[in-house]
Amino acid sequence: MQTGSADRLTRTLGIDVPVVLAPFGGLSSVELTARVSELGGLGSYGLYGYDADRIRTTAHALRVQTDRPFGLNLWLPTGTERDATADEYARAVGTMLPLFAEVGIEPPAPPERYLPPFQEQFEAVLEARPAVLSLVFGVPDARTIEAAHDRGIAVVGTATTVDEAVALADGGVDAVVATGAEAAGHRVSFLQPAEHSLVGLMALVPQVRDAVHIPVIAAGGIADRRGVAAAFALGADGVQVGTAFLHARQSAANDAHRRAIEETPAHGSVLTRAMSGRLSRGARNLAVRTLEEADAIAPFPTQNWLTGRFRALAGQQGKGELQSLWLGQASRLARFDDAGDVFAELVAGIPNAARRP
Ligand SMILES: Cc1cc2nc3c(=O)[nH]c(=O)nc-3n(C[C@H](O)[C@H](O)[C@H](O)COP(=O)(O)O)c2cc1C
Repeated sequence: MQTGSADRLTRTLGIDVPVVLAPFGGLSSVELTARVSELGGLGSYGLYGYDADRIRTTAHALRVQTDRPFGLNLWLPTGTERDATADEYARAVGTMLPLFAEVGIEPPAPPERYLPPFQEQFEAVLEARPAVLSLVFGVPDARTIEAAHDRGIAVVGTATTVDEAVALADGGVDAVVATGAEAAGHRVSFLQPAEHSLVGLMALVPQVRDAVHIPVIAAGGIADRRGVAAAFALGADGVQVGTAFLHARQSAANDAHRRAIEETPAHGSVLTRAMSGRLSRGARNLAVRTLEEADAIAPFPTQNWLTGRFRALAGQQGKGELQSLWLGQASRLARFDDAGDVFAELVAGIPNAARRP
């Protein structure tokens, strides 16, 4: 039976401390990412929806603030992405009319493209040469991994089940994030439907540990030293933490989102397809309730783009009821205002034994 070994992960990623700031697609901040990297962990930045220019600008902004290793995160195409038909589009827009009205906009016409092509994003990431590229929604192909390795970039995959972790390890990634059903944000399952891949972290981590030989990073519901200690006891070599860092003032979350993190009880978040067309964990606010009840959710990425029209304005207007309030089941444990305090709390949970080579 193996417990975790911090060194296994820190050596692989070139960092000092086995604490990873989760990437937040659409909500990462340069300040928070750079801060965690400066502290010796791995700051990650979510590039969901970013085109090549924006990736270049972001990587440059990160380099201005830190010369420590950082990670960039992309969503792999799964082949299940589909633009809504005209009828699906009209029905989805119909259910959102009160939400568009609430932020003061007309229903939008479909865009020319919903997302930048993966290859364009990937090439910009290669050019940016982060220490780490983390990926969700699949196993990167051998050419992708080789191209990253050629530039000295470590590749991290993400698994929601033991089978996915094995597929990633067999595919040649350098480390795997094992993400339990407690986690905030999207369920990034790729072998079975997300609804059939809801394994809790307590069950997932030791089974992934036993099944693969690459470093394992535990994610989901870890928000203080107790969660970190438990993850290492279960066999993780490091942790990836989202919600607790999202609560810190250096994050891009607005006050409404921070309040939701503080106030949502452990049973209060839900897994829903309402906001993006893919299963994701967040607070069940007015937007979620409205879209779930109407039952006309467009496929991903159309649904995500459509809700993005009112979500962006709701964020600026401080209307939490109309945002995607992604948060995990341990959200009420998030109590620090400063990312440095969150980091110190997490580091306190790394067992001494795990620090030995
Ligand atoms: C707002 C938000 C956006 C997220 N976006 C991404 C993403 O784009 N890519 C990714 O790998 N994980 C994403 N995640 C999931 C995190 O990487 C992480 O697995 C999760 O937050 C861990 O659970 P916790 O919040 O309970 O710590 C996101 C999480 C949040 C809160």
